[in-house]
Amino acid sequence: MAEKIKILIVDDNESTREGTQRLLEYEDNIEIVGFAENGLEAIKRVEEFHPHVVLMDINMPVMNGIEATQRLQQESPRTKVIVVSVQDDAHYLKQAFRAGAVDFVAKPITSAELAQAIERAYNSIQAEPTPPPMPVPAQAWPGAQWPTPGVSEGHVISVLGFKGGVGKTTLAVNLGVGLVKAGKKAVVVDTNLFFGDVSVFLNTRGQHTIIEMAHMASEPDQMDPQSVQSVLVTHESGVKLLTAPKNPRESEPISSEEIVNLLNYLKREFDYVIVDTATTLDEVLDASIQAAERLVIVTTPTMPALKDTQILISLLDADSLEKVILVLNQVDKYSRITADQIANYLKRPVAVQIPTDPSAVEAVNQGIALVTLDQRRVPSIRPLLNVVQLIRDAFETVQNEASQQEEPRKRWW
Ligand SMILES: Nc1ncnc2c1ncn2[C@@H]1O[C@H](COP(=O)(O)OP(=O)(O)O)[C@@H](O)[C@H]1O
Ligand SMILES: [Mg+2]
Repeated sequence: MAEKIKILIVDDNESTREGTQRLLEYEDNIEIVGFAENGLEAIKRVEEFHPHVVLMDINMPVMNGIEATQRLQQESPRTKVIVVSVQDDAHYLKQAFRAGAVDFVAKPITSAELAQAIERAYNSIQAEPTPPPMPVPAQAWPGAQWPTPGVSEGHVISVLGFKGGVGKTTLAVNLGVGLVKAGKKAVVVDTNLFFGDVSVFLNTRGQHTIIEMAHMASEPDQMDPQSVQSVLVTHESGVKLLTAPKNPRESEPISSEEIVNLLNYLKREFDYVIVDTATTLDEVLDASIQAAERLVIVTTPTMPALKDTQILISLLDADSLEKVILVLNQVDKYSRITADQIANYLKRPVAVQIPTDPSAVEAVNQGIALVTLDQRRVPSIRPLLNVVQLIRDAFETVQNEASQQEEPRKRWW
């Protein structure tokens, strides 16, 4: 049998220590090797027991969990710390990550969630080269000034539409999954802070959301790959998600600066950052437009949607207009308005038409991505993959044909 994951439980409260132990009782691959009542004792126990993962409380006498995490990070960098807090407080979260914790879990937590967090922390040790550990750039900001050798900068693609229900989220998640299927690293960012449903579309939810990520991004030099990874959720397709809060009450305002910072950060870790947006004209939407290299504008062939699309387009400046890829969704034989008429009305070509497809609704209800279904039976897949291809053409051919004189960027508009 594989090596067991050795755990040290640190908490000043005895019944909490026991409670955590009970949570992990039935996890075969986890072994609790010791306990500590405060940060200082935790450091000693780590030296003694060499646990893989420490579950660290924050408020403790003698030495608190944040300070202990910081010291462990220096003294035993191969031991990973998960901070466990009763408050799901962004302030603590930021402190914990800054101290070097790999994850932050808020109680109450289920055994499955805790076991998953432990496994992730353990896997992050396995993924590291044996000492010296991978250096995390200290001053990793701003984006363009953080050269990761051999890693090229990714691209931000925002999916927009002023009307609800036109298919923004459908496009965003399928672009994300489609890009991953094409071998790219992609993340879908849900900036719909109140009613975001990317996690519902893909039936995938984690502990953290864009709110925590935004808090980190308020001090971007404190962001590092590990804390960012722990806020992202992985869908089974391999696409990463930065989800919106499940409950609008858990939402908080995010500034345009935070959005730009977090998108710029993700650009360095991913080939493509797909941004799903809300229909509110606010700072977040503005930042999502400013930060993007392509704007996928989704509309349907109905007058209200076209009117709103017209308004959206009229608000874009000349630079942004150059980036537009217009997608006409939910086209069916009853649509009286043709793609040509729409192109005339909006003064730009319709890049892709997606038919009305009952599988779209079915896929959402089952929490699976359309593009992973059988292409022969699902007519919307090919057009969706065409949008994926358009985006790839915009960037990947630029690189391949860098030596050619023609500027491929001009092709779609
Ligand atoms: N081409 C399509 N054919 C049929 N239903 C679609 C299509 N595209 C999207 N839908 C459905 O329309 C609803 C709204 O789509 P959604 O992507 O949530 O729109 P938005 O994000 O713009 O509000 C969803 O139930 C989705 O499954
Ligand atoms: Mg949506």
